[in-house]
This record gives sequence, C-alpha cells and structure tokens, in this order.
Amino acid sequence: FDYAGKMEFDIGYTRRDLMQIKAAKNDLVVYIITGENEKDIVKQFRKIIGRSYIPPFWAFGYGQSRWGYKTEQDIREVAKRYQAAGIPLDSIYLDIDYMERYKDFTVDTERFPNLKALAEDMKQQGIHLVPIIDAGVKIEKDYDVYEEGVQNNYFCKNAEGGDFVGAVWPGRVHFPDFLQPDARKWFGKKYAVLTEQGIDGFWNDMNEPASFRGPLPDDVVFPGDDMPRQHKEVHNVFGHLMAKATYEGIKKNSGKRPFVITRACYSGTQKYSTAWTGDNQSIWAHLKLSIPQLLNLGMSGMPFVGTDIGGFGSNTNPELLSRWIQASCFAPLFRNHCAKFSRCQEPWQFDKQTLDIYRTYVRLRYRFIPYLYDLFYEESRTGMPIIRPLVMHYQRDPEVRECNDEYLVGDRILVAPVTDQGVHVKAVYLPQGTWIDYWTKERISGGKYILRDAPIDVCPIYIKGDSIIPAWPQLDHIPDGGSEELILEYYPASADSSKYVHYQDNGADFAYEAGEYNLYRFRADKDGELSVSMEHEGYEHHYETLRVEVY
Ligand code: GLC
Repeated sequence: FDYAGKMEFDIGYTRRDLMQIKAAKNDLVVYIITGENEKDIVKQFRKIIGRSYIPPFWAFGYGQSRWGYKTEQDIREVAKRYQAAGIPLDSIYLDIDYMERYKDFTVDTERFPNLKALAEDMKQQGIHLVPIIDAGVKIEKDYDVYEEGVQNNYFCKNAEGGDFVGAVWPGRVHFPDFLQPDARKWFGKKYAVLTEQGIDGFWNDMNEPASFRGPLPDDVVFPGDDMPRQHKEVHNVFGHLMAKATYEGIKKNSGKRPFVITRACYSGTQKYSTAWTGDNQSIWAHLKLSIPQLLNLGMSGMPFVGTDIGGFGSNTNPELLSRWIQASCFAPLFRNHCAKFSRCQEPWQFDKQTLDIYRTYVRLRYRFIPYLYDLFYEESRTGMPIIRPLVMHYQRDPEVRECNDEYLVGDRILVAPVTDQGVHVKAVYLPQGTWIDYWTKERISGGKYILRDAPIDVCPIYIKGDSIIPAWPQLDHIPDGGSEELILEYYPASADSSKYVHYQDNGADFAYEAGEYNLYRFRADKDGELSVSMEHEGYEHHYETLRVEVY
C-alpha cells in the first residue's frame, strides 16, 4: 500500500479472519505482488521501491551512544574505557547536548570547545562521531537556519498561512517542508557545518515529525513543489524526505558514502539511510520483540536496521544486557543507546562477567564483518535482507513458519538467542541439513529441535555444513579499506568441495558503482586445497594474506 497519509491497519483484531486496511483518501496505490515464495516476493518488492547502497565500512562496526554525554571529556572517556576494555568501537554518537541550546547545526563551544580537533583525535583512534540532528528548527531571531527558512518559505504552514509552530527540545520550533526540493537542498547543505569539522555520519531524529504538543494537526500545510498538501496526506514520508535531504547533502559535500540513521522511514528510505526501532525499554519483552521487528523491516525493504542495545528507557541489568548484545551481534546496525534518566549501560558499568561476555560478542561481530559486507553487496543488487527469518530459506518446513526467536544471517549462519530472563537452555530448531555448533564444533543433523545449554555467556550459533565464511582477524576498529588479511572458515560436511564468492572494495566512496571492486571466487576441497579465481577485478588493492581454517 503506497500511501503517505493516514492509514488504519486492523489485522485480525476485530475479526480474526479479516485484514482491514483503511486509507483516509481514496488515492492510495495498491500493488499486488504474486510470487513463488518469500524470497521472490521480497525481490519483486525491492524492484518497486528501488535499490540500496553499500554503507561505508565503518558503519558495520559497533557504536556507543547515550543521551547524557554532555562534554568533550565524556566522549574521550568513552573511547578510553573501550580501549582499556579491549572492546572494538567504531563510532560514538553525540546526542542533543553537543548543540548550543538544541539548535540544529550549532555546537556548544563551552562543552565542545574544538569539535574539529575532537573528531580528528577520535578518527586517529578509529572512531567516527555521529551527531544528532532534530527535525524541528528553533525559532530564534538571528539564528541562520531559522531566518533562512522563514525568508524562503521553507517551513510548514498552519491553516492560516503562518509558519506552523511545534515544540521539541529547543522549545518552539518550525518544521522544514521536506517536500520542497529547494528546502531539501538547503537543509542538506547545512550539514556542511559539521562535515567540514570531520564528521561523516548523522543521526536524524524526531522526524515523524514529533512535537511535544502532540501530533501535528491534520491541516498543517506542506507547500511542496507542485501543489500544497496537508499533513494528514504526507505524514508518512516526512522522515524519508529528511533522510533524502541528509544523504544528498553529505554526498555532495564529501563524495563519500553517507552514513545516516533515521527514526522515521518509509518504503524507499533504504536508498538514503539506516533506521533504528526508536525508544524501546530495557525489558525482556522488547528484547524478544527486536527479532521479528528487525526481520520484518529487512523483508520490507529496510535491510540496515538495529535496536537500542540494552534498551533505551528504564534500567538495564547485567543479564538483560548480556542477552541483548548476543541477540544483536549480527544486527546490521549495532549500537548501544540509552536515555538520560536510565542507568548508564556501557558494558564496563557492570561486573567482570558482563564485560567479558560483551567483549566476546562484539569481537565475534567484527570477525564476521566481511560476511556481512558480502551480504550487503548481495542486498544492494537483489534486495535479499542481511538477517532473515528461517522461512525465507526453508519455506516448505511448517516448523519455521512462526519461528520468531531464531534468525539466519545470509543462509549460512543460524542464531538462536536466549531472550527470556533466567533461562539457561534453548530449544533450537535446526532445519534440514548438517549444522555445526559454532562454539563446540559438534555436528548435528537438522530437521528437529535440540536442547542447547545456554548459560549466560552462550548464544547458540550454528554454521550450515559445507559453508565457507569469510572472516577477519581480531581488530579493534575497522581499518580504512578493510583488513589486510582474509580468513576463510570452511566447514566441510557432505560435499567434496564448497564455493563462495567474496566482494571487496574501498568501503568509502562510490567508485564501486563504476566497477572498482573485486569479486573473488573461492573453492575449497575437503583435502584442504583452496583455489581462487577472480570473477571481477576492478579494485587495485588485494589482500596480503589469505588463511583457510578448516573445521
Ligand atoms: C528521542 C530519540 C532518542 C534520543 C532522545 C534525545 O527520544 O528517540 O534516541 O536519545 O530523543 O535526543
């Protein structure tokens, strides 16, 4: 259903056997996709909504965030603590307190006296800063963003024709009319204030748009480019168009692959941004929910998604945080974030066991980044999500139809996280075929449930027999251009040999679109022979070392 306005979904709520979808106006576009199976439908859907792009390498790393980091010192401290803990880190997010009184595209120079130097220092340590930008622009005389917006009629209007006033962190605000191409260009250019200081990732927030005065009235007017529209007709695309403005602005300013994270999105936002699932709570129900949420988003064309690890609101605890990092270690977007009024939830705030568990799973994530990157290459061409419900690959198996507590990473890794408090054993369903327990290397034939011991430090993970999986050696950060060494984990089972196609590019800009990438075809034999051929050779850099580990 392609409709940017108000809709109502009643899925088996009023009547169990009925799905009712209502749109406020009758100009919604309905696509009916018929397909052979889930994969086919997802691929066809992607053809309608358009392609995605391969995010920059560093975006695959781990990020730490907290609404409450107030000063440059806080940020330096986070970097230091991660380094001391031996936990890889590639980004630190700057929530609203870095701004001068919550004004977009400003920096509080008392608390951040030299953002440029900070960004540089952090980059030296392999860390990217990702500041937040809110949708609402503070109403304040002589504030350039406000003045320019008013002068050029870039803001949404109230029914009387004046600029509409909402309320967000800075107090009274106007909202840009992102339906206007000129307003998008203008807002997109503003990010230069920060890209010029060495920032290359942004976090767009409150862009539903959200106002503390409640939902925007239906009759708020978006003047747009061709004809004015009312809020009730275009609400759903506000965040999407803000992401587009950001993406295009950064791309123009830097030429690099943008990293944008947005709270609101629509079908098509995968072309511009990642998304996170908004303000969850530090409760077990939200950890459990995160799996179907991310899988559904992936199948719905948003592959690069994640949840606030540990939970945003209320207080997390060692057990919940440990299970959350395990469940999320293959989530495409990998960020710990929490609210100002919640207990601090960086891993070192807890006991040694929690820190050790955290380290293990963040390192595991980094080990498999080349695999995730390959999946993104596939995703950008076919629309196949990175993490997938089992039903996408085993659609004839009735056991997996309603499986919401396991997922596949590509088609070779199966993750079965524990998402219940106090539980130390997991009933894992393994589909047909041979599966290898990642931790014990035990071989199990599938098509059945197994009970796997899952003490607090174990997230059950299985590798599909006969897989080759690319991996990196242990790294503290994602190096520019990726690792010099590539490891191939090979898990022979029943076949005499296995094949794998691996993608490599510079991880930074769009040169890959002009063919600057390599595709390696690996073939491993049971006797340990590895052969490599180049399916495409367009990127001058090659690995220095290839190492095969046979399990
Ligand atoms: C919103 C965001 C949250 C952020 C907070 C303060 O609630 O969803 O992630 O920390 O605003 O900016």
